[in-house]
Amino acid sequence: MSKKEIRIGLVGYGFMGRTHTNAYKRVGDFFPELKFIPKLQAVCARNEERVKAFADQWGYASVETDWRKLVERDDIDAIDICTPNNMHAEIAIAAAQAGKMVLCEKPLARSVAEAQPMVDAIEKAGVPNTVYFNYRRIPAVTLAKQLIDSNKLGKIFHFRSNFLQDWTISPELPQGGEGLWRLDNDAAGSGVTGDLLAHCIDTAMWLNGGIKDVSAMTETFIKERVHTATGEKQQVGIDDACLFHCHFENGSLGLFESTRYARGHKALFTFEINGEHASIKWNLHDLSRLAYFDHRDASIERGWRSIHVTDGDQPYMDKWWVPGLSIGYEHSFVHQVADFFKNLEEGKPCSPTFKEAHQTQKVCEAVLESAKSKSWKNTHVEW
Ligand SMILES: NC(=O)c1ccc[n+]([C@@H]2O[C@H](COP(=O)([O-])OP(=O)(O)OC[C@H]3O[C@@H](n4cnc5c(N)ncnc54)[C@H](O)[C@@H]3O)[C@@H](O)[C@H]2O)c1
Repeated sequence: MSKKEIRIGLVGYGFMGRTHTNAYKRVGDFFPELKFIPKLQAVCARNEERVKAFADQWGYASVETDWRKLVERDDIDAIDICTPNNMHAEIAIAAAQAGKMVLCEKPLARSVAEAQPMVDAIEKAGVPNTVYFNYRRIPAVTLAKQLIDSNKLGKIFHFRSNFLQDWTISPELPQGGEGLWRLDNDAAGSGVTGDLLAHCIDTAMWLNGGIKDVSAMTETFIKERVHTATGEKQQVGIDDACLFHCHFENGSLGLFESTRYARGHKALFTFEINGEHASIKWNLHDLSRLAYFDHRDASIERGWRSIHVTDGDQPYMDKWWVPGLSIGYEHSFVHQVADFFKNLEEGKPCSPTFKEAHQTQKVCEAVLESAKSKSWKNTHVEW
């Protein structure tokens, strides 16, 4: 079968630049039925020496040091945005206007106001697009979606989710610059809300529908940090921790918590859903397992099952090894790229699109506004 190449122009070669590139390199081998195949055409970052070294190591055909040049190139079909959050809007809008497909990292932007013109530009150009809320495509999480959609849980009462880390506890850690842009509000737009809770919110709305209104509290435990750009101590603008509760459109109650101050937790993303008939639980540190409790089981054998999601009948697993053998974090990106190409073939949008990621942005913003005003806020989500 002859395949059409989609020539990728990647912007940013950090953590996400590597996960996406790994996905492009593997997708053709593990999803051989796809009619599209990625070509690593160009990678862009500001430091020429370092971007060339990355291109050599990972197999990109060329480099750019100015993303505008990358966007203008005729030999690029898709722009993949793996830069800090403050760069997403400008690059995405220019890429859409140039008629490129756009794949963008989360959160879509730093605010709803910044995200809106991105959605407008994408819709006006009519270009295929997706946002890397990749956790949806971990097989156990996709299985959770299948169980909910097949009404195994019945009416949903509760959705709770956490994302806990512990890497910013030291007051000596500066804000801003390479690796630490997440602590700089100008670059990140927010702290744990946009960085971590955005994942919980995307997963929650995908599984359980729209979030209607929120009541939140945030805390910045370390109020001043040296800024890498100035060498001076400056006020910290990000939220170090955020807790919120909410109503979903379906009447269920949500409870969310995220922090970078939970000693012992590196990336503990969890969710639990309690329905009328059954409950499910998942956590990222044990990502191949889905816990399931069904009250309809005979009472003498009723209890929590730990489903090892490795069987060929389970989501995505027919693509990998044999039953019993797990896959990992990086595969969620391979699945997202595979789904993007599959949808491209069928002329369908690849969820989450910019429009859907904009809804998550609305919840993040309502959460921050609620914490600031100490009041309930409507999200205005259209789900
Ligand atoms: N989906 C996920 O689970 C997940 C995980 C981590 C990060 N992210 C998101 O991915 C994005 C990148 O995060 P990261 O952890 O890879 O960051 P990173 O700091 O590791 O990498 C950022 C890259 O952007 C490049 N860059 C910065 N400014 C640039 C410019 N003007 N032109 C070209 N390149 C530029 C840097 O050189 C670097 O290569 C963020 O939006 C973040 O929120 C998503």
